[in-house]
Amino acid sequence: MEAVSRTAQWTAAARALETDREDRLFADPYARTVADTIGFDLLDRYAGAGTVPFLAIRTTYLDRAIVRAVEDHGIRQVVFLAAGMDTRFFRLPWPDGVTVYELDRPALLEVKADMLAGEPAPAGRTRVTVPVDLTEDWTGPLRAAGWNPAEPVLWVVEGLLFFLPEQAVRHLISTLAGQSAPGSVLLGDVISKAALQNPLSRAFLNCLEEDGNPWLFGTETPEELLAECGWDVREVRQPGESGADFGRWPYPVPARAVPRVPRSFLFTCDLPTAEVRAA
Ligand SMILES: C[S@@+](CC[C@H](N)C(=O)[O-])C[C@H]1O[C@@H](n2cnc3c(N)ncnc32)[C@H](O)[C@@H]1O
Repeated sequence: MEAVSRTAQWTAAARALETDREDRLFADPYARTVADTIGFDLLDRYAGAGTVPFLAIRTTYLDRAIVRAVEDHGIRQVVFLAAGMDTRFFRLPWPDGVTVYELDRPALLEVKADMLAGEPAPAGRTRVTVPVDLTEDWTGPLRAAGWNPAEPVLWVVEGLLFFLPEQAVRHLISTLAGQSAPGSVLLGDVISKAALQNPLSRAFLNCLEEDGNPWLFGTETPEELLAECGWDVREVRQPGESGADFGRWPYPVPARAVPRVPRSFLFTCDLPTAEVRAA
């Protein structure tokens, strides 16, 4: 498995810790299995930078936004880009007829398949794994796997964009907009550029780099990035703000006008209607 794919086990370990809490925000009963020992080792190695509360908040924000998007928009195809050790196919309450596509590197998907081999698929839903490199053409393999670009789709891009160079980020998000039918939704997260240079996170950032998965991309203006790539931004929330706190964020949230603050952003976007796109 590539080094960057190990980070999926790190985030799974954080979800296992949240699951163990009495006041848990969500339960991911598969997280401990897919995290394996390495996930917990990485949790120790990458300690600091508020990652554990952040991952609990990010998971909760996206869990709720995913369920809402599918219900409100009648979407029946959901694509997790860089799904990693995500187990939402098994643990979220999907409506009947949903197909969940999980895209990630081939080696990760093979390891995950072995780890979850004994898990029965819940009735009424379909899971399709699609091995790809998201910096190359991945729409062809997704189409071949059954995705219908003429129908609305929910894209989830969680824990990926900071690992890609800016050009690849812009290309990916624009591709999503260009390939989506009206009614489609995009959910995900991105960090600020200042988070890439935060002196207080230097040890953490150095570890990521030493392990072969440096953080490369951040932006102080996610709204602009998403709009430039073809999306209508419905909301951008930082952990600790209303709608993205859930009683977990331990730090103050400086106003957006304050420069050079390391930040994370959670976003929900809609596809502009055909009329707006044509204008
Ligand atoms: C931090 S994990 C996030 C996984 C999952 N979305 C989550 O939030 O738990 C990053 C994931 O990105 C995947 N990834 C990184 N670069 C990729 C690429 N070029 N193509 C496909 N997957 C990639 C890794 O394999 C890994 O599973």
